[in-house]
Amino acid sequence: MAAAAPRRRLRPRLRACLDLIPRDGPVADVGSAHGRLARALLGRDPDRGVIATEAKPGPAAELGRRLGGLTGITIALGPGLDPVRGRALRGAVIAGMGGRTIIAILTEGDDVVRRLDWLCLQAMQGTEGLYAWLRRHGFRLRASARPVEAGRVYPTVLVAPPCA
Ligand SMILES: C[S@@+](CC[C@H](N)C(=O)[O-])C[C@H]1O[C@@H](n2cnc3c(N)ncnc32)[C@H](O)[C@@H]1O
Repeated sequence: MAAAAPRRRLRPRLRACLDLIPRDGPVADVGSAHGRLARALLGRDPDRGVIATEAKPGPAAELGRRLGGLTGITIALGPGLDPVRGRALRGAVIAGMGGRTIIAILTEGDDVVRRLDWLCLQAMQGTEGLYAWLRRHGFRLRASARPVEAGRVYPTVLVAPPCA
């Protein structure tokens, strides 16, 4: 019998992502690192299917060590949205990166983005530039949060991609 994802408390920054993310359908956690959000997504909605990605082999292997035994999580290696291209996904979360990196991921993965229902985005810096770019490119704001962790605000948005 396969292992289930044990429930663990998320800190406010990632908790805000979890709370904004719709509950149904397969989801990608791009740049998952420690895998805490991917694990929490699976723990909350065990049947949804979670793909946790990392750009480079070392971090992907570490992610595999942390999450590899869990049913319902796939570890995928590659930059940005490359490793989820062609997979059936409802949405993706990109958290814990700079705004410019997020813009680059959305630009390079434009074909993937346009098939998604939603994206949850949380930039560590460059938030205003990211939001201006999202507005310019027709993304629609669905919800937002401003979690505070260790005295710092982490603006977080749920957006819908531009209509095709
Ligand atoms: C600071 S960690 C954030 C981890 C987690 N998403 C969070 O919010 O706590 C950023 C992670 O994104 C990964 N990363 C950076 N650029 C990436 C890219 N273009 N594609 C996929 N992963 C990337 C890094 O390897 C790193 O593990």
